[in-house]
Amino acid sequence: MEKKSSNKNLHKANQAKKDEFYTQLVDIENELKHYKEQFRDKVVYCNCDDPFESNFFKYFAANFNFLKLKKLIATSFVPSPIAGRQLSFLETAGLKDKEKKEPFKIEISEVKDMNSDGAVGIDDVKLLLEQNAKTCTPLKDNGDFRSNECIELLKQADIVVTNPPFSLFREYVAQLVEYKKKFLILGNMNAITYKEIFKLIKANKLWAGYGFNMSMVYASPYSNELDDNRKFVVGKGYDPNKYIKVPAINWYTNLDTEKRHEMIDLYKKYTAKEYPRYDNYDAIEVSKVSDIPMDYNGAMGVPITFLNKYNPVQFEVIWIADRQDSQGLRTKTYTINDTPNYNDLNRGPVIKIEGELRVVYMRILIKNKKVKV
Ligand SMILES: C[S@@+](CC[C@H](N)C(=O)[O-])C[C@H]1O[C@@H](n2cnc3c(N)ncnc32)[C@H](O)[C@@H]1O
Repeated sequence: MEKKSSNKNLHKANQAKKDEFYTQLVDIENELKHYKEQFRDKVVYCNCDDPFESNFFKYFAANFNFLKLKKLIATSFVPSPIAGRQLSFLETAGLKDKEKKEPFKIEISEVKDMNSDGAVGIDDVKLLLEQNAKTCTPLKDNGDFRSNECIELLKQADIVVTNPPFSLFREYVAQLVEYKKKFLILGNMNAITYKEIFKLIKANKLWAGYGFNMSMVYASPYSNELDDNRKFVVGKGYDPNKYIKVPAINWYTNLDTEKRHEMIDLYKKYTAKEYPRYDNYDAIEVSKVSDIPMDYNGAMGVPITFLNKYNPVQFEVIWIADRQDSQGLRTKTYTINDTPNYNDLNRGPVIKIEGELRVVYMRILIKNKKVKV
């Protein structure tokens, strides 16, 4: 009886984590096309990727020669609950027994035109895996990216590319930073507000890739809870019983991007009337990134989407203005003596509109480096 209920709890916990979202090939291609030169002669590791299911593995295997990779490694954690969608042909080739629950590793150092069709692609990878048993081997541990076995593989890697479990995002990124790895990974918008992640953004050790605030369609064992999400998935041409919409997804990277060297064109001039000063921060409110005044030299609160345009030569990121106030930037904390909705106001920056205090949505505090004091 006890065992049953603990199994139930474990099941609940796994469900609560909701980490099973499988990225579509087109989404990977759309981002990766910007970085081709940075992959030349590099060891790529996809460390949350069932090689039999992951389109990350499929993308790098099929483009191994195009990208001039040195090596590709992929490891899986637990067998995918959506087994049989991507590289299921490998199962028919006897490379994976669906019933066996062991995690796998695939290592590829060369992809030749095995089928002599004049091109090198995923069919050649299939033949390579069929003919060279050493390419695909079971892992000794459980394939957790934190396991010693996976850390040894991580040490060999130059660039890690994947969609990691969102529930372990902080830990996942911390490990990449600890081992000084280049990375290109998917994560949700909310991750920006994690103190550990924001520190990296501020220190220019992590920034937004090209795809930002995307509504993604992922293959997933979960269901679309909202009717609108089902419609969105259908509109994109996918089966809403096998694919789900997940909004507000970003690519995060420390690979160079062209966009982070582009300046935001600023055309507005500061006026006290148009840019109200916060009641609880020493900064002004700028409600749209395109409205950042060109001539203001103090701190400004901008929407979180600013990071999509952030060029560290043009701007300095001070910190995020949120409830935690971990940097002690808030100049005032509201109490019941101020207003009955004091708790709400302590969520972020507050402006006074016609005598009424109103909290604005999440803001990042920045300074324009180009405006001299
Ligand atoms: C968001 S899914 C993405 C899967 C795949 N990378 C893709 O994009 O299609 C995250 C994957 O990480 C796996 N995972 C969860 N915890 C893990 C861990 N501790 N170590 C390695 N992988 C893990 C999950 O099982 C899941 O398959």
